[in-house]
Amino acid sequence: MKKILIGISGGIAAYKAVSVVSALKQAGHDVQVAMTPAACRFVAPLTFAALSQKEVRTELFPAHPASDKGQLYPHLYPATETDLFAVLPATADIIAKLAHGFGDDIVSASALSLSKTCVKLFCPAMNTQMWENPVVQENVQTLEKRGWKRVGPESGLMACGSDGAGRMSEPAAILEAINQIPV
Ligand SMILES: Cc1cc2nc3c(=O)[nH]c(=O)nc-3n(C[C@H](O)[C@H](O)[C@H](O)COP(=O)(O)O)c2cc1C
Repeated sequence: MKKILIGISGGIAAYKAVSVVSALKQAGHDVQVAMTPAACRFVAPLTFAALSQKEVRTELFPAHPASDKGQLYPHLYPATETDLFAVLPATADIIAKLAHGFGDDIVSASALSLSKTCVKLFCPAMNTQMWENPVVQENVQTLEKRGWKRVGPESGLMACGSDGAGRMSEPAAILEAINQIPV
């Protein structure tokens, strides 16, 4: 059983993350979901809360300050205790933030709080021209140089109508990559 933190960013492929969270929970993992404000525009946090059976982290600042450390310090808990952090879909924006150390949303702030041993994975998803943009490619390389594992993207037809590289990997491929990680 792994302690898994799934960060959802704001791309249309967020709907595929629903299957990933469901499968990880069914496999017996301790799954916590964090969502950027943009991600919440695509899929309701309630969907992930119901599947993970945990409150979804969407805010950096506690809505209900309480004695629970996760409510008081959402950027630290559960991030500091996580075995595996996976960002899916990973937008061009969140990739830039992760590469440059920003922490102004709950997903990027959690990424800053991970332990040295935490396995970090990201699944890019974006329009082909975005994916091929040199600034995106440089940010991707920065993350990989720092030890982040990348799953995808694949080539194919995307929701925006573009047909090329940038499609997020299917949930089965993401789950296979996660299952291969010895945590
Ligand atoms: C319909 C729609 C689909 C989008 N899909 C993507 C996408 O697949 N990948 C991406 O990088 N940005 C996409 N965007 C743009 C992001 O939502 C936007 O850059 C946002 O600021 C990302 O915020 P986040 O990284 O904090 O979640 C999309 C926007 C809209 C309106």
